[in-house]
Amino acid sequence: MSAAVTSIAASPGPDVVEHPRLTVIGTGYLGATHAVSMAVLGYEVLGVDVDQAKIDALVAGRVPFHEPGLPEQLAAALASGRLRFTTSFDEAAAFGDVHFVCVGTPQQRGSNAADMTYVDAAFTELARRLDRRALIVGKSTVPIGTAARLTELVQSVAPAGTEVEVAWNPEFLREGYAVQDTMHPDRLVFGVTTPWAEQQLRAAFRPVLDEGTPLVVADLPTAELVKVAANSFLATKISFINAMAEVCEATGADVSVLATALSHDTRIGGRFLKPGLGFGGGCLPKDIRAFAARAEELGVGQAVRFLGEVDGINLRRRQRTVDLVTELADGDLVGKRIAALGAAFKPNSDDVRDAPALDVARMLHRAGAVVSVFDPEAMPNAAKVYPELRYAPSLTAAVMDADVVVLLTEWQEFRDADPVDIGTLVHERRIVDGRHALDADRYRAAGWEYRALGRPVQSPTVELTVDERDAFRRTA
Ligand code: UGA
Repeated sequence: MSAAVTSIAASPGPDVVEHPRLTVIGTGYLGATHAVSMAVLGYEVLGVDVDQAKIDALVAGRVPFHEPGLPEQLAAALASGRLRFTTSFDEAAAFGDVHFVCVGTPQQRGSNAADMTYVDAAFTELARRLDRRALIVGKSTVPIGTAARLTELVQSVAPAGTEVEVAWNPEFLREGYAVQDTMHPDRLVFGVTTPWAEQQLRAAFRPVLDEGTPLVVADLPTAELVKVAANSFLATKISFINAMAEVCEATGADVSVLATALSHDTRIGGRFLKPGLGFGGGCLPKDIRAFAARAEELGVGQAVRFLGEVDGINLRRRQRTVDLVTELADGDLVGKRIAALGAAFKPNSDDVRDAPALDVARMLHRAGAVVSVFDPEAMPNAAKVYPELRYAPSLTAAVMDADVVVLLTEWQEFRDADPVDIGTLVHERRIVDGRHALDADRYRAAGWEYRALGRPVQSPTVELTVDERDAFRRTA
C-alpha cells in the first residue's frame, strides 16, 4: 500500500507541464463529458475511442446519448478548435501530457465483480506507446488495488518506463447533471504517489481549483475507495428509507411523512432519502456488488456485507411495485392494460441500464398484463433491450383505456400531467406512484385510487362524471 502523500501546492517543478495537453480515452458518458468540459475550460483535448461510430458522431457534433446541455457544450468545444477525436492510440500517445482513462467497468457476466477488460486494454495500449514523461489518470470506478497493479503494468510496458506515472481521479458526476458536475464539482480527489503527479494534476484542473473547489489529495487505494464508498453510502441511504417503507406498510405509517420529518435533522438531510422504486443505472447497483466482491477477496467481506442487504431491499421494491399494481388490477394481471410511465433509470436520462422502471414493466408483461410503456427519451434504448413490450408514442397514448397507470420514472412531464385530464382517458382511475412524485390529494380529488409504496390506503374523494370524462377524451 502506498504511503499517504503530503499535499504540495508550491510552484510547479521543472517537469510539470503548466498547460498540459489532455487525452480522454473512452468517450462514453463519462469520457465524452470530460473531454468536452476540459476543452470548454481552455485545454487542448484529444478524445480517443475504439468505436469508430462514436467518434464519427462526436466529430459531427452529435452526442450519442441524452444529456441536457452537453450538445451545446460539444458544439462550443468543437468550434473553439481545442477538441478533436481519434481512434488512434499512436496519436494519443504523441499528443498528451496527461491522459485520462474513462472506459467502463461493467459487472462481469455470472459474477458480482467488475470487468476490468476495457481498463486494462486502455492502459496497456497507451503505455506501450509512451516514450516520454506522462501521467495516466484513471477515472473509471475500479476495485481497490487496481491503480497499484496498473502502475506496475504501465511501467513495465512503456518505453519511458518509470517516467510514466499512474494517478487516480475518481469521478462523481451524475447523469442528467454531467456538465455542471464536471465543470463545478463538489470536490476533487487526486490519488497520487509523488509530488510531481499531484502538481501535474493541479495544472490539469487549474480553472476548477481556481474557483475554490475543495481538493483532497490521497494515496491510490484511498482515492479508489472514495468512489465506491460514496456510491455505497448513497445506495444505503436510499435503501434505508425504502426499508422504512416496508415497516410503514406493516404498521399503517406513511413513509413520505417519515422521510420529511427525518430530513429536517441536518445530520440526516433529505437528499437521497426519497422512497420509492429504488436505485438503478450503470453505477450504484454494479458498484456496490463489485465493492462487496472485492472486500471478500481482501478478507474484509464482513465489513461491507450489509451491502448485500442494501441490494436486496432495493430489488424487493420492484416486486412490491408489481404487487401494488396487481392489487389495483383486482388481483389478476392477465389481460389487464397497464400504462407504464417511464423506462429510464431516472429522469433526464435515456439510460436503461439496470433501470427499475423497465424491470417492473417487464415483470408486469411476464405476468400476463398488456403493458404500454412511454418514456420521453429512453424508448429507443428500452426497445433494444425489451422489444417484446409495447411502446406508446405519447403519455396520452400510453394511458388510453388503461386499467392501472404506474409511474416508474419521475419525468417532469408526468409530474405536470393533470389528473382530471388523464382521468378521462383511462378505463379505471387507478394509479401506483412508484416514485412518490405525484400529489396524492390532487389525484384522489380527481377520483383516482392512488397508491404508493409505504403509504397507507385511502379512498378517492370524488368521482368524475361520465360527461367530464367524454369531453376530455374527445379533445385528447
Ligand atoms: C451516481 C452517483 O450519484 C454519482 O455521484 C456517481 O458519479 C455516479 O453514480 C457514477 O458512479 O458514475 P447516477 O447513477 O447518475 O449517479 O444517478 P443518481 O442520481 O445517483 O441516482 C441513482 C438511482 O437512485 C436512480 O435510479 C434514482 O432514481 C435513485 N434514487 C436517487 C432514489 O431512488 N431515491 C433517491 O432519493 C435518490
